[in-house]
Amino acid sequence: MTKVTAPQLQKMKQQGERISSLTAYDYLFARTLDRAGVDAILVGDSLGMVVQGNSSTLPVTLDEMTYHSLAVSRGVTRSMVITDLPFMSYQQSPQQALLSAGQLMKSGGAEVVKLEGGTEMASTVSFLVERGVPVCGHLGLTPQSVHQLGGYRVQGRDAERAEQLLQDALALQSAGACAVVLECIPQPLAQQITAELAIPTIGIGAGADCDGQVLVLQDMLGLNDAHVPRFVRNFMTGSQSIEMAVKSYVEAVQDGSFPSSDESYA
Ligand code: KIV
Repeated sequence: MTKVTAPQLQKMKQQGERISSLTAYDYLFARTLDRAGVDAILVGDSLGMVVQGNSSTLPVTLDEMTYHSLAVSRGVTRSMVITDLPFMSYQQSPQQALLSAGQLMKSGGAEVVKLEGGTEMASTVSFLVERGVPVCGHLGLTPQSVHQLGGYRVQGRDAERAEQLLQDALALQSAGACAVVLECIPQPLAQQITAELAIPTIGIGAGADCDGQVLVLQDMLGLNDAHVPRFVRNFMTGSQSIEMAVKSYVEAVQDGSFPSSDESYA
């Protein structure tokens, strides 16, 4: 069983192998996802909502991310661990970002750190990458900017914003990012960005043409009875265990049957 690494993600894209990813915030779920064949486990700052019950990801601290990341890292043998840099742990300066990423890697077992933002974060991304920190970008609906965006809404619907997102993705790639999460953007735009990038795109609400998919674990297990976005499929339906549900998800990502066009934005 070969460990999934940042360079391997790029190889998977080149070979047309789709990347499966789910969030996890603790040891046992991480172990289950690892066993079920999930390529990348995202310790997302969505834990602020899913675990802590906040209405956004903004209150999450670097120490909380470190704590959950370490628990997840103890549960994996094959999956790659990507951990979110939380709000205001990296925006101040590249130096602040490096110290925060260092904490997630040294004390939290993170193998890749994820940060939100495009062209404006490119110099920070290259600062980290040049110092040995693998970085995953995050574009589209960036939850840490929810107040600026005016809510959790589909992004890139008009031509100008779509072009900006493409330029942002290219800037992150040039800065050395190893992958980019595309959240809640129209399927044709995600398809275009995916085609123009050499690094993999990992979509959530971005359609089936991305190189990989990610979902919040509790959403795809049908545990979240609040508003369920259209891009979420309940994989517990018809599954006898959580591990079986996760395996069905991995298969559906790999064979391209998830997400369907009904689970995407036109
Ligand atoms: O925090 C998170 O779970 C995320 C995913 C929604 C991509 O960033």
